Amino acid sequence: MTLLDGKKTSNDIKDEIALEVQAMKERGEKVPHLAAVLVGEDGASLTYVGSKVRACERVGFESTLVKMPASTSEEELLAKVKELNENDAIDGYIVQLPLPKHIDEQKVLLAVDSEKDVDGFHPENFGKMALDMPAFIPATPYGIMELLDRYDVDTQGKNTVVIGRSHIVGRPMSILMSRKGNPGNSTVTLTHSRTQNIEEFTKEADIIISALGVPEFLKADMVKEGVTVIDVGITRVPDESHPKGYVIKGDVDFENVSAKASFITPVPGGVGPMTIAMLLKNTLLARKVRQ
Ligand code: GUN
Repeated sequence: MTLLDGKKTSNDIKDEIALEVQAMKERGEKVPHLAAVLVGEDGASLTYVGSKVRACERVGFESTLVKMPASTSEEELLAKVKELNENDAIDGYIVQLPLPKHIDEQKVLLAVDSEKDVDGFHPENFGKMALDMPAFIPATPYGIMELLDRYDVDTQGKNTVVIGRSHIVGRPMSILMSRKGNPGNSTVTLTHSRTQNIEEFTKEADIIISALGVPEFLKADMVKEGVTVIDVGITRVPDESHPKGYVIKGDVDFENVSAKASFITPVPGGVGPMTIAMLLKNTLLARKVRQ
């Protein structure tokens, strides 16, 4: 069994990006500038956005954190988005999801300038991705493709089962794995909450990508020997014995599934750090395109 080490791989990618930024500085060029908009005080979102800003510092990017109260109106957020679109200093930005219930997420994502949409959530980027055109690829699926690539996992003609059809992970993942290319060229099955007898699919899978958010959902008796397992789950499970009051659990019963797997991602230290590294990669690309 080989551990797909997202922590190490993401550090390698950050080192590569830092070298490019250093070269940009030496040429007297503007360095990439990422902005992140956070509306409200959701604990997990605060943690993620904090990590994104710290990662910018680490690679030599400029960063701006825009914190807005939970009471922010849709109008106010759309005005902030317009301001970021027009601010020439900002190369790319993200609006951290989920947004408070009173704000229409689709309206906000549509308002983001597609050339600054380093999350790859705008329909223009999503459509281009599906059509094999150059586009910003959503960071989590992009990070998974990068892990499969760097660890030489064979995806060609393999049965790939994706669990979960979210716009951020499952749906784009199913598209990327079915595209021509390497990684890619998989025969993809996209399973979700209405799928019947899901284990009939997972048992036949060469590669399973789980983005469900149900702790330890995938058990050893649901997978075949030699499977590759990518665990995108990061659920906070209350645990008073930990200083933070919770532990992070993935979708996979790691202890038992890893005994049958040829490749598997840990949680934490698998897909999570890759997401941040790929957001940086998208921001570097945004700067280069705007250059
Ligand atoms: N919420 C969970 N994942 C993401 C992500 O990749 N980008 C944004 N903007 N919000 C998220």
